Amino acid sequence: MNRITRSYSFPLPIRLLLLTLAVAVLPLLPGCGRGQEEESTLRIGVALYTQDDTFIATIAQELERMAQEEEAEGEIKINLSIADGRSNQTTQLDQVDQFISRGCDVMCVNIVDRTAAAVLIDKAEEADIPLIFFNRQPVLEDIQRWEKTYYVGARAEEGGVLQGQIVVDAWLSNPDLDRNGDGVLQYVMLEGEPGHQDAMLRTEYAVKTLTQAGIEVEKLVSGTANWKRGQAMTKTLQWLDEFGDGIEVVFANNDDMALGAIDAFLETGRSLPLVVGVDATTPALEAVADGTLYGTVHNDAGGISRAMLDLILALTSGEDPAQRVELEEEHYIWLPYQQVTGSNLEDFYPGA
Ligand code: BGC
Ligand code: CA
Repeated sequence: MNRITRSYSFPLPIRLLLLTLAVAVLPLLPGCGRGQEEESTLRIGVALYTQDDTFIATIAQELERMAQEEEAEGEIKINLSIADGRSNQTTQLDQVDQFISRGCDVMCVNIVDRTAAAVLIDKAEEADIPLIFFNRQPVLEDIQRWEKTYYVGARAEEGGVLQGQIVVDAWLSNPDLDRNGDGVLQYVMLEGEPGHQDAMLRTEYAVKTLTQAGIEVEKLVSGTANWKRGQAMTKTLQWLDEFGDGIEVVFANNDDMALGAIDAFLETGRSLPLVVGVDATTPALEAVADGTLYGTVHNDAGGISRAMLDLILALTSGEDPAQRVELEEEHYIWLPYQQVTGSNLEDFYPGA
């Protein structure tokens, strides 16, 4: 059979320019690298709501590390393609389209807008690519839309309950926390992004845990700082102007915001009240070690990454996923939260 050799009509300088452009643009496109890799390569597309988030960046790093370990152990080659959604749902949908058109085997999506899940699930179903949501939880109705849709994460209300319990234990054992001695716990609440399950439910259940323990509480003020340390510091500075030393407890839906609140107290030279967060990020564990952060709740980034990878390996090897991971209601993998305070810090931060 004769092979047809194509002849290109572009002059050399133009060809070089086109090549340069292709080299410059290709790495910007999220993709799974089909074409450059062997057919035996497992192609995973991971879409992050934003890379600019301490907890999410940790999940992504852990996933990369574990994928490398997996490669080193076995015959499998893994191509992990991570896309940064920059908090824009339209951008993320484009990235998912790219994953599909470039032939991913599985997609992991940390969805920007939880209410946009249905569109994404329909796209995945059409292409028959299993879809694993993580950390930002679509509603049950969406998850049940297609059998190859999963969610990996921790139960938001459990995080709230454990955070509340840290405060209950501290309050009941230390009367000095009641700064004005009125028997009522005056608190402020730094909330995560509006609409995020972890912002709504952690807030609700932390406070509920206090009232159910018989503690009388008074909310001085609450407001969102969108998971961000800088925004939390700004908010807390405003609240300090208004309430000063009247703040007895700072609840923060995550550690970055708890650290932002601590920044504000330290900047204004005030003595710290009881501050609690969620996540157990490294900077937060350092703050527990130096005594500025009273406690946090371990949100298992490594566990989320491990569970996703195990699920991926099961799905792509034709195994029944339930054999390899603990699936609840056929779609969910739940990671437990754990309390962290000075008394068990060593378990999470060896050498503290
Ligand atoms: C974490 C936050 C993070 C958010 C992002 C939450 O579970 O506690 O730190 O910003 O997820 O979706
Ligand atoms: Ca009080």
